[in-house]
Amino acid sequence: MKKVVAIYPGSFDPPTNGHLDLIERGSKIFDQLIVAILRNADKSPLFSISERLRMLEAMTESFSNVEVDTFDGLTVEYAAKAKASAVLRGIRAISDYEYELQMALMNRKLHPELETVFMMPAEQYSYLSSRLVREIAQLGGSVKGLVPEMVEQRLKEKMDPAVKLQYAREPKSRKR
Ligand code: PNS
Repeated sequence: MKKVVAIYPGSFDPPTNGHLDLIERGSKIFDQLIVAILRNADKSPLFSISERLRMLEAMTESFSNVEVDTFDGLTVEYAAKAKASAVLRGIRAISDYEYELQMALMNRKLHPELETVFMMPAEQYSYLSSRLVREIAQLGGSVKGLVPEMVEQRLKEKMDPAVKLQYAREPKSRKR
C-alpha cells in the first residue's frame, strides 16, 4: 500500500507546545511526517536554523515516523522532492483561516496534486504563537507551559545578558 508522506512547514522560531500538539496529531494520520523548517524566512530570527533543528529533533525523538529537515524556496517544490502528497498546517482561530486558505489555494495552483490538510491544535494552544512567545521571553515574562522545558531553557539562555554578550562577540557566520 502507498505510504502517505506529509510535510509540516513553518518557521518554528521557536517551536511551541502548539507545534508539538500538531506534530503528534499529524503523526497519527500520516505514515511519515516531515517537519520542514523554512530557511531565510526572517533575516533576524531569534534562533538559528541549527538551533531550531536541534530543538525540534529533541521534541520529536519519541515519534518514530517523524523527521525534521530544513528547506528554502517553494514549499511545493520541497514537498515534491520529499515525495509528500500533503502539507499539514494548523488553524488556531478564524483569523488564521484567511491566510491559510490563500496559501493552500496558491500551493494547489502551483502543484495541483498536493493536498493541504488543516488540523486544529488543542484548545489551550489556540492563542499561542511563536511571535508571542518571543515577545514574552524578550520582555522577561514566563513561557512555562507554552513551550517544552528545553525550549524554555534555551530562551532563558538567549535572554541572559552574559549569553547575549557572548553571541554579540561571535563572528556573524557562527550566529545563524
Ligand atoms: O508558520 P509560518 O512560519 O507562518 O510558515 C509559513 C510558511 C513557511 C509555511 C510559508 O511562508 C511558506 O510556505 N514559505 C515558503 C515559500 C513559499 O512556498 N511561498 C508561497 C506560499 S503560497
